[in-house]
Amino acid sequence: MMSRTYYIETFGCQMNKADSEAIGGLLEEEGFESTELPEAADFILLNTCAVRDHAEQKAYSYLGRYLQMKRNSPRKLIAFAGCVAQKEAANLVQRFPELDLVVGPRNFTALPEYIHRLRTDSGRIVATAGEEDLVDATTPRSRGADSTGQGWVTIMVGCDRFCSYCIVPYTREREKCRKPADVEQEVRELVEKGIKEITLLGQSVTGYGRKAGFESDFVDLIERLDCISGNFRMRFTSPYPGDIDQRLIGCFDELEHLAPHLHLPVQSGSNEILKRMNRRYTREDYLDIVEKIRQLDTDVAITTDVIVGFPGESEEDYQQTRELFEKIKYDKAYIFKYSPREGTPAAEYEDNLSQEVIDRRHAALLELYEQGAEQRNQRHVGKTYEVLIEGESPKSSPDNRQLVGRTGHNNVVVLPYLGADLEGEFVNVRINKAASYTLFGEPVEEETNFIAARAVS
Ligand code: SAH
Ligand code: SF4
Ligand code: F3S
Repeated sequence: MMSRTYYIETFGCQMNKADSEAIGGLLEEEGFESTELPEAADFILLNTCAVRDHAEQKAYSYLGRYLQMKRNSPRKLIAFAGCVAQKEAANLVQRFPELDLVVGPRNFTALPEYIHRLRTDSGRIVATAGEEDLVDATTPRSRGADSTGQGWVTIMVGCDRFCSYCIVPYTREREKCRKPADVEQEVRELVEKGIKEITLLGQSVTGYGRKAGFESDFVDLIERLDCISGNFRMRFTSPYPGDIDQRLIGCFDELEHLAPHLHLPVQSGSNEILKRMNRRYTREDYLDIVEKIRQLDTDVAITTDVIVGFPGESEEDYQQTRELFEKIKYDKAYIFKYSPREGTPAAEYEDNLSQEVIDRRHAALLELYEQGAEQRNQRHVGKTYEVLIEGESPKSSPDNRQLVGRTGHNNVVVLPYLGADLEGEFVNVRINKAASYTLFGEPVEEETNFIAARAVS
């Protein structure tokens, strides 16, 4: 059989990354080989994100480029997948007559069949959930894992929360959980393959198994996975603050493999805004969780997502978010400017904020976060951590070669190049300098500081 090549371009969250891995796995089973060059690929797939307008526009601009390539070599197949595909299926077909395939996030398992159909019949295919929901919640969704030693494991798909600003419940459909035994099997396989960091994925993972009759809740699941032996750590993203209880918090002290890191999206520090976002917790609830985390024996890093410029966000609301940032001093914060998404309730809310105000609030909150992170990161200086090496640093140069990796806290660490191929391996690194985004250190032989590091022999 003639060899065929594929190229996948992925935007958006880790869920999309995991889906792209699964798609790559499916294509390879069909005899496709991956290529780094879209120009050379027989099949190009764009896995898109619709969470903000900017992400959506980027998808269209890449699509334009790929369709241009198809004009020069018409046998190339172009697929548009992911969240924008789900949301805009009808418009896409009209707007881009040369596009071969539109496939939603719940339909990609049938890709090989679609490709076969496109090769044998002329015409185009549009497959979005609702018509046929092909992802069975038992299907393993993360086939491979890349050489960085990280594996993404989807534990649930969809989202039922309907935060008022968010498009995800419309693009990913209703929540569906994979069975704990299937998740466990996939994690075991990845650990056996030598994967060192497992990230459990879902839009609100703490809601895992909450539907009546399901055999396991989220804490049951991570306790079960913690029993797997091997030299690995695990994280999860994203939990929902309203679900977090003492039992889950205690896991950071008790579970051997759980990385000391909690990504806890706050979205806003104002109760009024949280209410209008349909986030079902208050700033007091949130601060209470943070306080309990900070009382643990384990030093747990706390990171967040926050939106500035939500419709009607007053100066007072914004100040409440700033106050929260001052109190917490996040280890990392992703600060987004609100982007109205058609079809969500918030897109209909009255909005009186100028772009100038939103830009100013965004820049000032970023500055506040950076100051806090730089201060907090100083606690790492002099400590030794297990760093999972991702590869050569992008800033590495021939006369100053450097490696880059991550700690269990999820801090990025830069260290001198060690000569050997350590990508995807743990190295013990002593931190000697800390800035707001990066730690700097030297490799050492000594023991590390963390529970998740006990697995080092
Ligand atoms: N399910 C995850 C996040 C999914 S989207 C969670 O609930 O934490 C990732 C982040 O994008 C969100 O946490 C939110 O901060 C941001 N986001 C979502 N919709 C947005 C919008 N319309 N405008 C700006 N940011 C948005
Ligand atoms: Fe969006 Fe809220 Fe669901 Fe997260 S929990 S994906 S923010 S609706
Ligand atoms: Fe984007 Fe869809 Fe993920 S909208 S953030 S790719 S769930």
